[in-house]
Amino acid sequence: MDIEGKVALITGAGQVEGIGYAIAQELLRKNAKGVAILDIHDGMGQDAKNELQKQFRKAVVIYVHCDVSSKSSLEEAFEKVKTHFGRLDIVCNNAGILNEDNWELTLNINLMGTIRGTYLALEHMGVNYGGSGGVVINTASTAGVMTTSLLSVYGATKHAIVAFTRNVADNNKFKKNKVRVSAICPAKVDTPIQDFDRTMIPDFEEFKY
Ligand SMILES: NC(=O)c1ccc[n+]([C@@H]2O[C@H](COP(=O)([O-])OP(=O)(O)OC[C@H]3O[C@@H](n4cnc5c(N)ncnc54)[C@H](O)[C@@H]3O)[C@@H](O)[C@H]2O)c1
Repeated sequence: MDIEGKVALITGAGQVEGIGYAIAQELLRKNAKGVAILDIHDGMGQDAKNELQKQFRKAVVIYVHCDVSSKSSLEEAFEKVKTHFGRLDIVCNNAGILNEDNWELTLNINLMGTIRGTYLALEHMGVNYGGSGGVVINTASTAGVMTTSLLSVYGATKHAIVAFTRNVADNNKFKKNKVRVSAICPAKVDTPIQDFDRTMIPDFEEFKY
């Protein structure tokens, strides 16, 4: 896809040391016209927006508060981005947490947030909904293609993201609407998500990649 002139929405991009922020930076480097940073942490999100805007003065960078675990919050954020830019071409469902204790929240953010974001992307970019088509990138993980017995729920959400992405990528509704859906599976990246307390998981062992 030619990124020049395109508008992207990225969830969980408010952490300047995180993967979502790096995706935003890379899209702007490739001359995206605009990027919307969505995050649940407003102070961090505003800082990320200001930092990107300083680096890429020709582009338009906005920050929009969004909790991907809330259907209405994600819907409102998509509306705001579409209204602001008048178009949407790229959606990165990237927000994620690693919390085996609060596994319901991990499911809600990682998996349900990604599913919500993918269906909203279809409605905001699909040609039968008035859009021009586009691309959805879901952030899974190597934990989505190999076993991680000590990160059982996190790994399950990432396996499910891979399966969901493969299914919708092959789905006729998405194809007819010219919305392409893919997943990325990063291995370990040194970001704040890695700062979890290893002692909360007995006998924690790092992945063997
Ligand atoms: N870092 C790694 O080793 C690694 C490896 C594979 C996959 N991943 C995945 O990459 C994605 C990004 O993680 P990261 O490593 O950049 O971690 P990170 O903690 O730096 O970034 C996660 C971002 O998501 C935001 N977020 C959390 N809950 C949210 C919510 N409810 N709504 C909106 N935003 C929310 C956080 O505020 C943060 O900005 C995650 O899906 C993660 O599972 C990370």
